[in-house]
Amino acid sequence: MSLSDKILKLKKEKKAVILAHNYQRPEIQDIADYVGDSIELSRKASDEQDAEIIVFSAVDFMAESAAILNPDKKVLLPCLGARCPMAQMLTVDEIRRAKKLYPNAPVVLYVNTLASCKASCDICCTSANAVEVIKSLDSDTVLFGPDKNLAEYVSEKTGKKLIPIPANGFCPTHLLFQVEDVKILKMQYPEAIAMVHPECSSEMRKAADFIGSTSKMCRFAKESHAKDFIVGTDEGILHRLRKENPQKNFYLAYEGAICPNMKLTTLDRLYTALKEEKNVVKVPEIVAKKARASLERMFEVKS
Ligand code: 13P
Ligand code: SF4
Repeated sequence: MSLSDKILKLKKEKKAVILAHNYQRPEIQDIADYVGDSIELSRKASDEQDAEIIVFSAVDFMAESAAILNPDKKVLLPCLGARCPMAQMLTVDEIRRAKKLYPNAPVVLYVNTLASCKASCDICCTSANAVEVIKSLDSDTVLFGPDKNLAEYVSEKTGKKLIPIPANGFCPTHLLFQVEDVKILKMQYPEAIAMVHPECSSEMRKAADFIGSTSKMCRFAKESHAKDFIVGTDEGILHRLRKENPQKNFYLAYEGAICPNMKLTTLDRLYTALKEEKNVVKVPEIVAKKARASLERMFEVKS
């Protein structure tokens, strides 16, 4: 029996569900019950009723959100070392300092943050709904963290002033993309459409034909009549894009754009975590309660 089949068997026996992010390895995406972006996975985790275990194949903050939103389920992160470096860039102290400087500005945090930070903000957002979340607020000045690029993008879209906390939070994987790579690919494939994630630099965003979250990119590629696409996000998304659009071509804007943390989830690690029911993600209820409120406020915003 293959390892994938063993996992599928075990999953049934243990009444588990596997949620996987669009950046996960192809073999993980193929055994998952659901593959999606961070907002979709949070909603799935929150709505899950039947399963007793949620195996969250992604990075720490996403699994934490699942544990916060559905505290009655056992949430497993196959590799506890799978951390998002951007999420580590913001601390509660930094939020406190910013609040002192701008006492009237609401604090909006990208879900790529630790639970303790989510507990200290007014509302969360993801790259799929950040524009709508900011628009939904009364204030024209907003404290926003930790991604400076996303802050810039949302500010351009809404005309509001977003003060980044920390001053320069970023995603090391999306920082690797360079406009020159897009230009070279456009020369090779003149009809190609460039899709990039809002975590990319402003230069990359300017060179893009479409900017959106990972699942928005998948939807856009499916609905577009174009045949060739240049992709500015982690390479893991290519598996889903190619699977859903076998007649279309997808070219990664930079071959080295691989989030090492997302790739820490392997079949081996997932199997062991599920078999031993280990790597349980726990968030103390005192933190979870406040963080849940910030996430639920985000769900209420129409996007
Ligand atoms: P999405 O919500 O677009 O899937 O993005 C999550 C992420 O970590 C991007 O680097
Ligand atoms: Fe974090 Fe960047 Fe990896 Fe997304 S791609 S999980 S933001 S390090």
